[in-house]
Formats: sequence, structure tokens, C-alpha cells
Amino acid sequence: MFMFPLSLVPAKITNISADITVNEGSNVTLMCLAIGRPEPNIIWKHRHKFVTEGEYVDMTAITKEQSGSYECISSNDISAPDVKTVKVTVNYAPFISKAGSTGTPVGQKGVLQCEASAVPGADFEWYKEDRRLLNGLNGVKIENQGKQSMLMFLNVSEEDYGNYTCVAMNTMGITNASIILYGKTAYCYC
Ligand SMILES: *[C@@H]1O[C@H](CO)[C@@H](O)[C@H](O)[C@H]1NC(C)=O
Ligand SMILES: *[C@@H]1O[C@H](CO)[C@@H](O)[C@H](O)[C@H]1NC(C)=O
Ligand SMILES: *[C@@H]1O[C@H](CO)[C@@H](O)[C@H](O)[C@H]1NC(C)=O
Ligand SMILES: *[C@@H]1O[C@H](CO)[C@@H](O)[C@H](O)[C@H]1NC(C)=O
Ligand SMILES: *[C@@H]1O[C@H](CO)[C@@H](O)[C@H](O)[C@H]1NC(C)=O
Repeated sequence: MFMFPLSLVPAKITNISADITVNEGSNVTLMCLAIGRPEPNIIWKHRHKFVTEGEYVDMTAITKEQSGSYECISSNDISAPDVKTVKVTVNYAPFISKAGSTGTPVGQKGVLQCEASAVPGADFEWYKEDRRLLNGLNGVKIENQGKQSMLMFLNVSEEDYGNYTCVAMNTMGITNASIILYGKTAYCYC
């Protein structure tokens, strides 16, 4: 077996911050400690981009763009670098990234779509004016799939046309968007 000369010790990470979940705006410090001889060099990467050098990463008022895995790379050229990762999850309030419908004639199926980015994932509610719409009542179905919620009309009637609101919420906040269900010939507000 190959033995390192006594004076040389490969870089080895001995302690690294645990994975964390924080709210957007928090101050976060990540730590990565390493031993080795010569003294290891430590760099941090996030999404394959260099972040900083040294044992600590300080993030003031963290944003959602700063979420994800942080790689601590410790090396002293004695052997392959020692690499460990910390996962940072950043909670943030929903924002609606897509909301829309297509023109739907009377007597056909209609769909209103609403898509929200959020961590934790958003819960959705649908309203027509002030009235909450519930899955399975009044000829509508509500289907939630990941980031997306769909309000589906099984058989559109004249009375269904109008202004709907998709509300997206999580523990961090609430937001909404208006979507018009319109006939094929009606004016499109989208
Ligand atoms: C790692 O460092 C933290 C913070 O300094 C300390 O609380 C913890 O006990 C250390 N863990 C190990 C395994 O040394
Ligand atoms: C985060 O750090 C900044 C700058 O050091 C400080 O002004 C702010 O109060 C800190 N925020 C929290 C929530 O600790
Ligand atoms: C849709 O509703 C209309 C009016 O109530 C009815 O005449 C028609 O048969 C329905 N269509 C379907 C596919 O259920
Ligand atoms: C739909 O309703 C929302 C909220 O009440 C309102 O802000 C928006 O202007 C309405 N849209 C149309 C096209 O009437
Ligand atoms: C949608 O958001 C606006 C602005 O925050 C608010 O005034 C309104 O009450 C919300 N509508 C619904 C149905 O939640």
C-alpha cells in the first residue's frame, strides 16, 4: 500500500455545517473545517460557480437564488481534493409565474391555469368574484399538480364566463392573479 511521507497529510474535511432551511432575508453562515499538511486550501462553489475562499461563507439577507447545494472543496495537492456539500433551502412567498386560459365556447370543457413558484410549495384556492370555488361543486374540478393548479369546467355555460382569481399561499405569504374565462369570440384580456 502506498504510504504518504510522515510530513504530508492529504486534505480531509473534519466538520461541515448541517443542511439548513431558512426564510428569505435571513443571515446565513456556512462552515467547513479541514485538516491536512500542508494546511489545506478551502474554496466554496454554488451551482458550479466559485463563491469564496476560506472556512466560512457569510450570506447577508439570503435570496432564493442562493438556495441549493454548496460544495466545500478542500485541497493541498497531496491527493484528490476532499469535497462535501451543504444543502441550503430558502423559503419564500409564492409568486404567480403563469396564469391563463384559452377561449372556450359554450358546451365544451374549459381550463384556467395558474402556476406559482414557492418554497414550501404553494396551496391554491380559486374564486369567482368573492365566491370560493370548491372541487367537485358547480361543475368545476380543481386539480393541483406540483407548481400548477387547474380549474376545469366540465361543460362551459354562459354563466361561467367572467373574472376568476387564483390565490397561491404558503407559510411565507399569499398572492393572487385574475384570469378571465371567455368565449371564443369574446375579447381576450390575457
Ligand atoms: C462541528 O462544529 C460545530 C460548530 O463549531 C460543533 O458544534 C460540532 O460539535 C462540531 N462537530 C464535530 C463532529 O466536531
Ligand atoms: C443580518 O446582517 C446585517 C448586516 O450585518 C444586519 O444589519 C442585520 O440586522 C442582520 N439580520 C438579522 C435578521 O440578523
Ligand atoms: C352541457 O350542458 C348543456 C346545457 O345544460 C347540455 O345541453 C349539454 O348536453 C351538456 N354537454 C355535455 C357534454 O354534458
Ligand atoms: C378581474 O378582477 C380583478 C380583481 O377584482 C380586477 O383587478 C381586474 O381588473 C378584473 N379584470 C377584468 C378584465 O375585469
Ligand atoms: C388579491 O390581492 C389583492 C392585493 O393584494 C387583494 O386586495 C385582494 O383581496 C386579493 N384577492 C383575493 C380574492 O384574495
